[in-house]
Amino acid sequence: MSATAISPTNLALIKYWGKRDTNLNLPINSSISITLDSRELHTITTAMFAPEGETEDKLWVNNKPVPLSTVPRTVRVLQLMRQLAQGNNATTQRAIYIVSKNSFPTAAGLASSASGYSAMVTALAGLFDLKTSKEDLSRIARQGSGSASRSLMGGVVMWNMGTRQDGLDSQAELVPFARQVELEAIICVVSEKKKKVSSTAGMQTSVKESPLLAHRAKDIVPVRINAMKQAFAAGNVESVLELTMRDSNQFHACCLDTFPPIFYMTDTSKEIVNLVTELNRESVRYAYTFDAGPNAVVFCEPQHTQTLLDALLVAFPPPATGEETFAYVRGRTELTATQALQRNTAKRAKVEQEQEGELCYIFHTGMDKLGARVLQGAEEQERQLAVPT
Ligand code: DP6
Repeated sequence: MSATAISPTNLALIKYWGKRDTNLNLPINSSISITLDSRELHTITTAMFAPEGETEDKLWVNNKPVPLSTVPRTVRVLQLMRQLAQGNNATTQRAIYIVSKNSFPTAAGLASSASGYSAMVTALAGLFDLKTSKEDLSRIARQGSGSASRSLMGGVVMWNMGTRQDGLDSQAELVPFARQVELEAIICVVSEKKKKVSSTAGMQTSVKESPLLAHRAKDIVPVRINAMKQAFAAGNVESVLELTMRDSNQFHACCLDTFPPIFYMTDTSKEIVNLVTELNRESVRYAYTFDAGPNAVVFCEPQHTQTLLDALLVAFPPPATGEETFAYVRGRTELTATQALQRNTAKRAKVEQEQEGELCYIFHTGMDKLGARVLQGAEEQERQLAVPT
């Protein structure tokens, strides 16, 4: 009577910013993302039928109850999933409990709504025993949060903006990529605080106020989407990286072009841009990208990750917390604050200015090939979530 799903999150290389329909979450341009490895970053969601006699649906996120009246989009997604299941499952009218947990801070600029809604629709499809395709599920997840439409599938994913008014063609599809394409991601967590202007609010102001955004959606993104697809198909990583940086720059330029302007990048974000630009002096090996927050995600091929990490550790030593065991580098590489300092003593001596404590921590991850899935057998037993007491 329950189903548990895991979903990765995703990071847009060509950004979604702006809606043509705010109810259905229909975008003004298509977007392309990389799905991030769910072994390191994920949402796990268990959907279950409530005990007999219970009439109300309920939700818990990260161990806390969330009143459904405060999250209309979640109510909508639940309603759409019920509609989909109608006829093939008599129990769809029973009250449902949804328990969800993120492996990373909510609203820290690491799209937790993306993995959240993707895990939710996948768990509900499992609970209702539906064999719905990921493309179809992506249209429902989209109505929770636009970027969630891209989290159902692994690898490289395009959210096709579609042209229909009912949104039936606004859904995710896989972007084929050459076999040799493998990217890792280094996430520089500049702040764990909730962002000041949410993406939902920020993009609507930009749609109204930024003429640059209108130009971007109409003339720039369509060309860039094609170039990005071609670069992936041809395995031209250098081009993927360059397009990624150009698109992040333009998205933030649109934020600045909004009136009043929206600033997501901070001075620390800009220092990371400069560091990456310096590392790319001879050839483009790294790409920074920023969503609606100050945290940088830097992509590169696995053979270049250590050079990047070293450069980051030199420029941004860990905060002096006094806690030697503080985990400064997390994920695929694990380093405590002490280890991080020891690693680069020789290089650090030559650096004039270091920005100690400007990064909260660094997270090393990579690409996810599977996308969201319902857990089975021992994995389900081990990871399913109970209603918090
Ligand atoms: C900057 O998907 O969070 O991360 O659809 O209103 O929920 P809503 O917005 P959301 O916006 C994401 C914006 C972005 C770019 C992207 O992920 O494409």
